[in-house]
Parts: sequence; structure tokens; C-alpha cells
Amino acid sequence: MPTPQSAIFRSGLRAHEHLEFDLRPGVTMGQVRAAFAPLQGGVFVQAIVVGFGERLWRLLAPAEACPPQLAPLMPIHGTGGTMPAQPHDVWLWLADRGPDVALDAARIAIQALEPTFTLVEDTQGFVYRDGRDLTGFIDGTENPPPDEAAEVALIAEGPGAGGSFALVQRWQHDLKRFQAQALGEQERAIGRTKLDSVELEELPENSHVARMVVETADGELAIWRRSVPWGNAAVNGLQFVGFSADPSRLTAMLERMYGATPDRLHDRLLDFSRPKTGALYFVPAMEALAAWVKA
Ligand code: HEM
Repeated sequence: MPTPQSAIFRSGLRAHEHLEFDLRPGVTMGQVRAAFAPLQGGVFVQAIVVGFGERLWRLLAPAEACPPQLAPLMPIHGTGGTMPAQPHDVWLWLADRGPDVALDAARIAIQALEPTFTLVEDTQGFVYRDGRDLTGFIDGTENPPPDEAAEVALIAEGPGAGGSFALVQRWQHDLKRFQAQALGEQERAIGRTKLDSVELEELPENSHVARMVVETADGELAIWRRSVPWGNAAVNGLQFVGFSADPSRLTAMLERMYGATPDRLHDRLLDFSRPKTGALYFVPAMEALAAWVKA
């Protein structure tokens, strides 16, 4: 298999920068390739992931480098309301030990890409306590173990092999509303205990965990999550990042979340958090990046 972007699997870094860009009108693919060149070896950060929206990847890469599932995220309508989808052209995820290094790297990356792209989203994320979401619940308990993560996240063979699909959504919480609930009610909304993340024996059907466990004829759908909290004391939430070899797993989860399913149940999460942004990116293997992006 071609070499994946290894930072997809890099953990232990506490400061994160998520940048999303749109192509400026009239820009040529030669200019796009030239814009990425300074990033190679010029951004000093421990982890960097580059993803492309469907439109730009098709312009940059030949058909044989485009996986058949390559498509933009579509809005979802269900009993939980409407999920926004705002396709963008490039996603850069930079991570390091501290916010100073991550911020400097983000500024250098923006400077390199700005003549060719417009920065449309700039979200700083961080690890909260021992890997908790700002609700106080541990996020990532049921993530696949590291030795299974590659199989879950990466396209094994065929067009786009070694690449991955990433769903990137900035969720904004209403923490006052969440915390106004008694502890037991909070736990029934998530489906796990708050202190130590043990799955509830009587799992409510509309709890987040129950909605996200999707059984199919081939077993339970698996994704690799790398979400982090973002924001300040007043305005905050979760920068959701989920990788999958097959984007239909991500959309199946989102449909269950929004009640766009025959059971019409929506996720209790939606009562206190909503995505403000949402896009799907293709994260190509290193060889594809070298061939079609770097000049
Ligand atoms: C506000 C947004 C979200 C918050 C605060 C949140 C939080 C959590 C928490 C606390 C858990 C339980 C612990 C764990 O296994 O990690 C969990 C599980 C999970 N979440 Fe989320 N999540 C959010 C959005 C999403 C989205 C958008 C998806 C998928 C598209 C998703 C997919 C999953 C999956 C697959 C699990 C594991 C379920 C299991 O197998 O038990 N989450 N999430």
C-alpha cells in the first residue's frame, strides 16, 4: 500500500490548528502546485495532515488517483433538523505540543497558500484534561486500538489507495444547557458514565453511543476519530474529525444522528450541540501528494 499521511495516527499532541481554504477564482493548477511547494520542509510542526475537497482533487489528480466514493458532503435533513454542509477545497491540520508552535506553523501555512486560496475557517483546538470533550465526558473510548486504526481509516487498494476520507465539523456546544441536567440525565444523553466512560447497561435508544453504533451484515461500522475541543470560556465546542476508508460509514452515522432513518430517532447530542461547519476531505497518500500537488 502507498504511504499514508502518518499524522492521521499521531497522538499525544495537545495543540491543534484546523485551517480550511477555498480556491481563489481564476487560479491555475500550476499556481496551486506552486503554492504547496513552500509547505514542504517549511512548516516546522510535529504533525501535518493535508486534505482536499472533491472539486480540487479532481482538478489536481488524474482519474486513476480518485477513489470512486469521492464526493462532497451533502446536507442531511431529519427529525433532528438540518445538518449543514459547506464544501471547501483544502483542509490543513497542524498539531504540536504547545499552541505557540502550532500557531507559528499555521501562520506560515496561511502565508504560503493565501495568494492562491482564501482562508475560510481557522479553528484552534486543544486537549482538555485527560482527553475529554468540554461536556466532561471522555471522547475516544471506543476508538479502534492503534493497531487497527490503519485498517479502519485507509483505502486498502485501487484508486486512492493509502488515502483516507475525513469528516471535519466544528460543533458548538450549549454547555449551560447540558450542565443544567442532572448527572444521570447527562449520562443518558451520551450513553456512558461521566467519570470513567463505562457504557450504560440500559442504553437509551437516542443516546449518542446508541445512535453511533451502526450494525450491518458485515459487522459494526468503524471510524477513526481525532476530535479535540475548541474555543474559550464563553463560546466553545468540539472540532470533530473522523477518518474512514469509506465515507458512507460517516454519512450513515450522521443520518442516524439526525433521525434521517426509518426509526426517525435523533441523537440527544443535538439538544445541546450543533455543527456550524461541515466538509468531507480526501487525504491522499504521500506518493499521490508528491505526484500531483508538490511542484
Ligand atoms: C458534539 C459532537 C460530539 C461529541 C461531544 C461526541 C462525544 C462522544 C463521546 C463522549 C463518546 C463516548 C466515548 C467514546 O467512545 O469515544 C462518543 C462516541 C462515539 N462517537 Fe461521538 N461525539 C460527537 C460527534 C460525533 C460525530 C459527528 C460522529 C460521527 C459522524 C461521532 C461518532 C462516534 C462514534 C462512532 C462513537 C463510538 C460509539 C461506540 O462504539 O460506542 N461522534 N462521542
